[in-house]
Amino acid sequence: LAAGSADLAHLDARDRNFAFTLVLTSLRRHGEAKAVIAHFLDRPLPRKSGSAAIILHFATVQLLFLGIAPHAAIDLAVRAAKLDRNATHFANLINAVLRKIAATGARALEGLDIGRINTPQWLWQRWVRDHGEEIALRIGLAHRDEPPLDLTVKRDAEAWAERLGGIVLSTGSVRLQPGHAAVETLEGYAQGEWWVQDAAAAVPARLLGEISGQRVLDLCAAPGGKTLQLCEAGARVTALDISAARLERVRDNLKRTGLSAELVVGDALAFAPSQAYDAVLLDGPCSATGTIRRHPDLPFVKSDRQIGELAALQKRLLDKAAGFVKAGGRLIYCTCSLEPEEGEGQIPSFLARHDDFTLLPVKPGQAGLEPHFVSKEGYFRSLPFMPIGPATGLDGFFAARLLRR
Ligand SMILES: C[S@@+](CC[C@H](N)C(=O)[O-])C[C@H]1O[C@@H](n2cnc3c(N)ncnc32)[C@H](O)[C@@H]1O
Repeated sequence: LAAGSADLAHLDARDRNFAFTLVLTSLRRHGEAKAVIAHFLDRPLPRKSGSAAIILHFATVQLLFLGIAPHAAIDLAVRAAKLDRNATHFANLINAVLRKIAATGARALEGLDIGRINTPQWLWQRWVRDHGEEIALRIGLAHRDEPPLDLTVKRDAEAWAERLGGIVLSTGSVRLQPGHAAVETLEGYAQGEWWVQDAAAAVPARLLGEISGQRVLDLCAAPGGKTLQLCEAGARVTALDISAARLERVRDNLKRTGLSAELVVGDALAFAPSQAYDAVLLDGPCSATGTIRRHPDLPFVKSDRQIGELAALQKRLLDKAAGFVKAGGRLIYCTCSLEPEEGEGQIPSFLARHDDFTLLPVKPGQAGLEPHFVSKEGYFRSLPFMPIGPATGLDGFFAARLLRR
């Protein structure tokens, strides 16, 4: 799905952007497109119809959601069908259905339960079970729109917001609305005055508070958004990641921002530092369901089983991370997941296994957090539809702050 995908490399920038938008929108609104197509088809397409279904899907998305002129979208669809031995028999049907969708398809969208139908069943069931139906619907709805671009700025958030045409959020991130110029061309990027980081992702490192001069271990550090925050706050940072290639991105980011950290390629589970740290931040591998707004392919490539496996790995990483914290030091555990197994569910069992740790509850106001971001237990929890003053929407994130006695 990457914009830099080799399959798209031969296209010029405009076509590449269009292809990218088309795929992203087709994923984000797949349920709506499917429902409208089903409304206008007398019976489902047979199995041997080749690419007819996907051609219909892409054309419907162009007609209903991307404002493409009907003749252009329909002509392209019919031509594409004729290129496929199996779909070519359906070219007339595709033409007829798309004409109807162009004329009255928008009406077929009315009354659809959008938050639900755009969410694949396995996730819908999970979210209803874990968050309740009302919240599940709001999560699903939040996944429909293109998310804004959030930046963590080194200093002068107000000035940078003004310069870049954005706003400052309650937590201090600067937000630009979709439609901004390419990130690398924005003022301050080359000078390393800021980096891209969702407002929610910027919270966990801030929960450490004053860390100037402290030794901080960033386990699972790449691509390095949190490493940069820790360095900028004046900590002496060790950034570890299992992936050498991903750690290169941390190196590049440090270079661009003029910050420095000790970089270690290695498995956190096998890491054996000679000295314990004042603070450890564990932002381990997770299902990343909190980032579906940015990665709408996730629901189609992840599975229930993977979430169980990841939760088991997170438990092992947490146990390991605990051993790297010195007495009186702090441990931040965080994930960009909406799934309680990867967040809230980890903490009580961790505390039961480690009686030298206690929860250091997060309080509203800390790191600029509004009360709705703080759970009754004292965890940081964001969901993609939540307001973040003065705006709305951020990645789904979980963080707990633990203290070693
Ligand atoms: C969620 S990402 C971290 C994001 C990063 N903290 C940031 O703010 O930019 C998880 C990272 O964990 C790394 N990882 C996965 N398993 C690991 C392990 N056993 N030891 C160290 N790093 C691991 C992955 O390579 C990936 O870069």
